[in-house]
Amino acid sequence: MRIGVAKEIKSDEYRVALTPAGALELIRRGHEVIVETGAGTGSAFADSAYERVGARIGSADDVWNDSELLLKVKEPVQSEYARLREGLVLFTYLHIAADEPLTHALADSGVAGVAYETVEADDRRLPLLAPMSEIAGRLAAQAGAYFLEKPLGGRGLLLGGVPGVAPGRVLVIGGGIVGYNAAVIAIGLGANVTILERSIDRMRHLDEILSGRVNLVMSSSLQIAESIKDSDVVIGAVLIPGARAPKLITREMLRDMKEGSVFCDVAIDQGGCAETSRPTTHSEPVYEVEGVTHYCVANMPGAVPITATKALTNATLPYVEAIAEHGLREAVARDPSLARGVNVVDGKITYEAVAEAHNLEYTPLEDVLPLAPV
Ligand SMILES: NC(=O)c1ccc[n+]([C@@H]2O[C@H](COP(=O)([O-])OP(=O)(O)OC[C@H]3O[C@@H](n4cnc5c(N)ncnc54)[C@H](O)[C@@H]3O)[C@@H](O)[C@H]2O)c1
Repeated sequence: MRIGVAKEIKSDEYRVALTPAGALELIRRGHEVIVETGAGTGSAFADSAYERVGARIGSADDVWNDSELLLKVKEPVQSEYARLREGLVLFTYLHIAADEPLTHALADSGVAGVAYETVEADDRRLPLLAPMSEIAGRLAAQAGAYFLEKPLGGRGLLLGGVPGVAPGRVLVIGGGIVGYNAAVIAIGLGANVTILERSIDRMRHLDEILSGRVNLVMSSSLQIAESIKDSDVVIGAVLIPGARAPKLITREMLRDMKEGSVFCDVAIDQGGCAETSRPTTHSEPVYEVEGVTHYCVANMPGAVPITATKALTNATLPYVEAIAEHGLREAVARDPSLARGVNVVDGKITYEAVAEAHNLEYTPLEDVLPLAPV
């Protein structure tokens, strides 16, 4: 199959959808890889690194027009809509439930749009979102430690303390992938860490894997109000699938927090879990409310494109290989997780939540692509 890798043109996006290592795997399997000039630069992969493994470097026109499978990171932006076409399989983050113009552009073009974020395992895990949650969680703990420094408006506290001086306290609300990873790094820095969770099963699991190195406490409004008073860093890491983040922290609760403490709201991409949260960017990551530094960057992995690109492509490559090997039709027939990733095909909306979000007709995938192996 001819596989294209487009350069991301959305601002502040430095990731690329395939590493040279991934390109080599595909080329070894007999596929052809075309990479847009400069596509890997933001992640420190020069064009020559792709050429060395046998990929061809081309213009945006070459990549979009010559590919059968096009790999991207972010959803197409408006200037790319005209490049969508029938016969092309587009594999990328799409997030079209929140983007009506793109939904129409995909459907009108006849492209097959497969969304990373809706590829879903039978046990409901989201394998192509998980690596970004791992990165965001780890970064949140680092950001918390960093913005506690006095010159940055923080309390002036070293999170890990030193012998003879107690460490700082980190409160993580939500012990999923983000929360676990935030806790791991905070523990590593030497902080005193508490995770508030509302799933007992999840807490049992965290207890097993973190074996007594964190305090695990049932989450409730009262508990959150009590716990944030003593905390130096609070990390918001909750998720209710398919819904906006619940507003768990009110402005009033913030008033009880220590002056110069830090609140990292990782859940900001779902609206944020505090009344006072609003999205920020890497160039201006923080603002202050009620004496509390708010760090609410909506695309945290964007700060570490080298790590994010490698983590993303580690997760996407098996699906790319399956589509390249079998074609989309047979690949989705063989793998229900990948089938759940198909949002639009042949002008039909095949992902129910997307159709509902825009009041469009929903067509079950099996009506467009047969799900029994061919
Ligand atoms: N800002 C970014 O760059 C970025 C990057 C990745 C993920 N995220 C966001 O981070 C959030 C967490 O993602 P995740 O992958 O860890 O999700 P996840 O599903 O793995 O974990 C969420 C956890 O929150 C728990 N939870 C739900 N309501 C709660 C409550 N009231 N109190 C305590 N715990 C509660 C759930 O039981 C679950 O364990 C999501 O909103 C996600 O979109 C943001």
